[in-house]
Amino acid sequence: MTFVVTENCIKCKYTDCVDVCPVDCFHEGPNFLVIDPDECIDCTLCEPECPANAIYSEDEVPAGMEQFIQLNAELSKTWPSITEVKDALPDADEWKGKPDKLQHLQK
Ligand code: SF4
Ligand code: F3S
Repeated sequence: MTFVVTENCIKCKYTDCVDVCPVDCFHEGPNFLVIDPDECIDCTLCEPECPANAIYSEDEVPAGMEQFIQLNAELSKTWPSITEVKDALPDADEWKGKPDKLQHLQK
């Protein structure tokens, strides 16, 4: 089991999640974060911290977002680790909750 970052992180990247992870399993891309499923210990701490409600347990990923399970696994292998909170992306509040953000994912 692992936790998974889903679509609503894209173009927001608040990074509150990073602050609570005890095993530093978040990895950072230009406008999205992912969780390494081989490092996540299922502690659940990050899920309530995300202002965009983008984090789910692998078995509770909403319908239509299943592809993010694979995306987290893939991208976490090449993106660098992030262990400290940083400022959210400039228009994060405007993008929070917008649909169909996958097309904006930068790899
Ligand atoms: Fe880190 Fe825990 Fe979230 Fe997994 S569930 S990513 S270990 S904070
Ligand atoms: Fe993304 Fe939420 Fe973390 S927007 S960076 S998953 S706090």
